[in-house]
Amino acid sequence: MRERIAKLVWALTMTLVIGLSCWFAAAHNPPIAIAASSDPVAVPRAKGPVPPAAEVARGRQVFAAQGCATCHAIAGEGNPRSPLDQVGARWDAEEMKAWITGTGLAVEMLPPAIAKRKQRYVAMPEDELKALVAYLLTLRFA
Ligand code: HEC
Repeated sequence: MRERIAKLVWALTMTLVIGLSCWFAAAHNPPIAIAASSDPVAVPRAKGPVPPAAEVARGRQVFAAQGCATCHAIAGEGNPRSPLDQVGARWDAEEMKAWITGTGLAVEMLPPAIAKRKQRYVAMPEDELKALVAYLLTLRFA
């Protein structure tokens, strides 16, 4: 008899605990609404005109030549620590330049050593930087 009561109490307690956890989880995790989110990373932006294909192709070469893949991966190639696959949906051309060259908004967001390392890209020829930005802007959700 005591054993049955103990089992019943245990079952009720577990039901209560699981029920409360579910309620808590539901109450504190509102459904994900990407478009309405205030998180800048989740909001697709920079929907400008598609850059010319030749410039994009050049940008891809610049990406390889500048060794960006030592820290970044695109489509599974390169360093998987910092993938850039959706980066075109996150930033506009100016912001992208800042990220590449470790300047502007990127200074605040990058570890100082990384920002410093990226600042050597400030010396990149303007047309190469432009092509690189064009390429990165094409990396976004379809
Ligand atoms: C020494 C490592 C390193 C190198 C080299 C490097 N980056 Fe980065 N980059 C980072 C880190 C770290 C971040 C921070 C974001 C992260 O951790 O994903 C970042 C951020 C970025 C971002 C913004 C990413 C985002 O998720 O919004 C872009 C764009 C970018 N880098 C482009 C480049 C390009 C293009 C090159 C080559 C010219 C380059 N980076 C070279 C380390 C590097």
